[in-house]
Amino acid sequence: MSDSKIISSNVVWHHATVTRSRREQQNRHKGTIIWFTGLSGSGKSTLAHSVEEELHRAGCRTYVLDGDNIRHGLCGDLGFSIADRTENIRRIGEVAKLFVDAGVIVLTAFISPLRQDRFRVRSLVSEGDFLEVYCDCSLEVCEQRDVKGLYKRARAGEIKEFTGISSPYESPGAPELAVNTGGESLEESTAEVLAMLRSRGIILE
Ligand code: ADX
Repeated sequence: MSDSKIISSNVVWHHATVTRSRREQQNRHKGTIIWFTGLSGSGKSTLAHSVEEELHRAGCRTYVLDGDNIRHGLCGDLGFSIADRTENIRRIGEVAKLFVDAGVIVLTAFISPLRQDRFRVRSLVSEGDFLEVYCDCSLEVCEQRDVKGLYKRARAGEIKEFTGISSPYESPGAPELAVNTGGESLEESTAEVLAMLRSRGIILE
């Protein structure tokens, strides 16, 4: 199911009395999606967890959805064809939307290589609820790091449809923030994301 077609019939939306705004009041921050995108090895997960650590210490309700983890469960039936990646991102988008409704700051770390797929998630929520953070790290640097040894295997032809090698990555045209994860320290990137959240009123101080 690539486009969100609804095939279940006779289902009626049940409105909650505990609303998003009541949850946000209790949490003392807004619910939002911080959507990290970038090549494998560009530092998405590391940065997402680092930002989460700071937010958690500051008393925020947070959760990280991470590509490698989610593919063990919710998306364990999906591979890396374009269609499967689209479905992966669609599911994550729907899950992230639920987190926003729960008043949580949800940080997602998926390659999410296609602009259209990311745009579809953006469209699921209200303006300002989806903050795209581009982890800008060149293929050369990601490949040099090769933390998981996957680039080497992809170059050897052992992994098909590998992002950046044999499958496309479309960088964001106008992300809310681009961080130079290829050149700066984790502390610097973390501070930039936190500053962006403050400037947008997602967190207070
Ligand atoms: S996405 O393209 O659908 O957004 P996702 O972020 O869930 O990808 O998963 C990417 C992770 O899966 C990579 O970090 C890497 O560890 C692993 N992986 C395994 N095969 C591939 C592949 N063919 N292309 C990219 N990543 C892969």
